[in-house]
Amino acid sequence: MVGMVELFVLAHERRGEMSVLNDIAKRAYELPGVVTNYLANKILLESCNPIRAEREADIAEGYIDKYFTGFGSEAQFLEIGSGGGDEARYMMKRGLNVTPSDVSTRFIGEMESRGLKPILLDAINDKYPSQRYSGIFCWRVFVHFTPEDVEMALWKIYDALEHGGVAIFSVINRKARHVDSEIVDFPGIFRVYAKRYFRYYQEEQLREIIKKVPFASVECFEELEAEWLVFVLRKK
Ligand SMILES: C[S@@+](CC[C@H](N)C(=O)[O-])C[C@H]1O[C@@H](n2cnc3c(N)ncnc32)[C@H](O)[C@@H]1O
Repeated sequence: MVGMVELFVLAHERRGEMSVLNDIAKRAYELPGVVTNYLANKILLESCNPIRAEREADIAEGYIDKYFTGFGSEAQFLEIGSGGGDEARYMMKRGLNVTPSDVSTRFIGEMESRGLKPILLDAINDKYPSQRYSGIFCWRVFVHFTPEDVEMALWKIYDALEHGGVAIFSVINRKARHVDSEIVDFPGIFRVYAKRYFRYYQEEQLREIIKKVPFASVECFEELEAEWLVFVLRKK
């Protein structure tokens, strides 16, 4: 049976309404306690299941090591939707000049309290800094984006990359889910006490969207027993 939430999501997705559904996630990440719960949850998962946590971190770091290399010491990198800033910190540790960013002022505050210097950036609606980047990293952020949001963000990312620059983003693989999208407080795994909009993608669907933006090459990888899809896009 289709419930009210599914009907709401369907109606907005059919109308191709950009950002309306992402707004639900954005609002959740501004609620008091949600970001604290998100980060506490991450720490809890790390202590309950250190092997999986290490694997997850290794995956993100592996892409950074493999693709954000050989650009020279002046190269600039941007991270979109940095959350608590773990990946940005890893990039810094690797000697990369990275600007962390997030749309949530709560995550910005968290990162600042951890010594990072993030910028406030909405990947869909904002004008990006005029800086051109060698690499843009966007980990577990498009999970809150409709296809229209993804296309808009990809155009902006494309413009913000220098020639030869690389963009990396990850999404939850639709293959592992029972619905295309849902508004949930992520069941069992990542409960933050506020419902967020989640959209799940298949490789082919994303390739269709990416085709509209003139990236020179597109690679896609399955990670974590195909729970995740990771895309690596290069600008000519
Ligand atoms: C699931 S969390 C992932 C955080 C971090 N990248 C990680 O892997 O732990 C999703 C992140 O996307 C951010 N986000 C959601 N909508 C966004 C938007 N329109 N622009 C930029 N960031 C957004 C949220 O604030 C949050 O930090």
